[in-house]
Amino acid sequence: MSRKVCLTGIKPTGTPHIGNYLGAIRPAIELANKYDARYFIADYHAVNSVKDPKMLKELTLKLAATWLACGLDPEKVMFYRQSDVPETFELTTLLMAYTPKGMMNRAHAYKAKVHENKENEKDEDAGINMGLYTYPVLMAADILLFNTNIVPVGKDQKQHVEMTADIAQTFNHTCGDEILVVPEPVIGVETQTIVGLDGRKMSKSYDNVIPLFLPQKKFRKIIMKIVTNSQGIEEPKDPDKSSIFSLYKLFTDSERQAAERERYLAGGMGWGHAKQALFEVMNAHFAPMREKYDELMDNPGHIEKILAEGAEKARDIASKTIQRVRKAVGIQ
Ligand code: TRP
Repeated sequence: MSRKVCLTGIKPTGTPHIGNYLGAIRPAIELANKYDARYFIADYHAVNSVKDPKMLKELTLKLAATWLACGLDPEKVMFYRQSDVPETFELTTLLMAYTPKGMMNRAHAYKAKVHENKENEKDEDAGINMGLYTYPVLMAADILLFNTNIVPVGKDQKQHVEMTADIAQTFNHTCGDEILVVPEPVIGVETQTIVGLDGRKMSKSYDNVIPLFLPQKKFRKIIMKIVTNSQGIEEPKDPDKSSIFSLYKLFTDSERQAAERERYLAGGMGWGHAKQALFEVMNAHFAPMREKYDELMDNPGHIEKILAEGAEKARDIASKTIQRVRKAVGIQ
């Protein structure tokens, strides 16, 4: 029996950080053991916000190198760049005809922007392009082109995947059952919030992220920037209220966690020491990946080759879906 298809994409809109790694990249790589996995770089989506062409190219390359350095095996996972699959455009346009405008009005990302404009007493459409407005249709095309069964995403994307399922059902209802596979979102059960440097959720928009592949010295420096309270060295510290400990837990087994917990509670350990311990475990975890990342970034031709091979496999599937959809709507 063929395996179910699992698909997800990440936008190249910022330098990948450990929140992306723990929340999206690592779980997706694990899912590839169980599913027929298809992972891509959502560069069409990124165009909505990244308007500097050099930057977009650079971020796309960095994201590809990140996936590969983190362990994505292109022999096992179909790995491609969204813009290498032009069938995406065609399906997007066709799906527009099956997407109610009211549904787009309800999309969170768009609604949040309108809300922000109203708060700031601006025109409600200020700064909103059609790319943002129709974002869920492009995303539906990404998903439906590849006969996807499950879509692992963060909570913020759940609504978009549900919209995809709605659009697919409307399409099938009109044009013929089972033309499009109806997907479902899978939200990682364990995706606890990963805290950033300032103790809030790690997010590019809070400017509190720990980038994944900094040179070791810079990596240490940024970990040393984690904000703490002003307790002195001698004071016992509460590990459960510490961002340092909450990150430490993500990279250690229960035995090491218990030992570190004791050091917090005993007193005599300053925040500097706690950060050093965190740096050491994180560095041990990421050093081999960093090496691979640096190697890849020194050889962009190799990355391009992997993406080109992925694109070929992706187009093979995408073109079949498009043929089916064209026929179903009466074009050709
Ligand atoms: N919108 C997703 C995000 O911002 C990225 C994305 C684009 C995606 N197309 C997708 C995710 C298709 C899953 C499936 O994170």
